[in-house]
Amino acid sequence: MTETSEDTSYRIKVVESDKEILSTFTVMKSLRENLKRKNYITSLREQQKEGFKIVILAAKDKVKAVSGFRILNNLNRGKFLYVDDLVTKPEDRSKGYGSILFDWLKKYANDNDCNQVVLDSGVQRFGAHKFYLEKGMKIVGHHFSMDL
Ligand SMILES: CC(C)(COP(=O)(O)OP(=O)(O)OC[C@H]1O[C@@H](n2cnc3c(N)ncnc32)[C@H](O)[C@@H]1OP(=O)(O)O)[C@@H](O)C(=O)NCCC(=O)NCCS
Repeated sequence: MTETSEDTSYRIKVVESDKEILSTFTVMKSLRENLKRKNYITSLREQQKEGFKIVILAAKDKVKAVSGFRILNNLNRGKFLYVDDLVTKPEDRSKGYGSILFDWLKKYANDNDCNQVVLDSGVQRFGAHKFYLEKGMKIVGHHFSMDL
């Protein structure tokens, strides 16, 4: 699926091929620092079996922002879009790319009959919290986790 905005200076696309997925590696690694290029495709193909998709915003054929997401369903929320990852290339932050990609995710969720867009953000990511609050999200709970 390809979507091109009216502003032809960028395009947003759900990527499928190994080559396209690999083109997201450097940007994704700026968020997920432990990623290894050699495992990247295999890990994402595993996630795709669970409904994961990866969408890029590219300008002049360069990846500027990336999001990994999936549509889930549970008793609490019904159908919702969960954002696993959202990251803009470090040199290209504060140019509006994150906002455009977030708006695309919100529209995708609406178009797929989701009730909510949901994500977790590390407690230390104050910049991201500001971004999400400015995009209209609300902090609605505490996230608990335990290493096994
Ligand atoms: C959060 C993120 C995706 C936003 O993408 P972006 O392309 O920079 O977003 P936009 O240009 O649309 O909006 C930028 C606005 O978000 C807020 N913001 C984003 N990051 C911020 C930071 N580190 N400190 C303060 N404000 C920040 C600000 O309001 C900023 O506006 P400003 O530049 O005028 O101050 C990007 O900053 C990023 O990749 N951060 C690191 C990865 C991350 O934390 N991702 C979220 C994981 S949950």
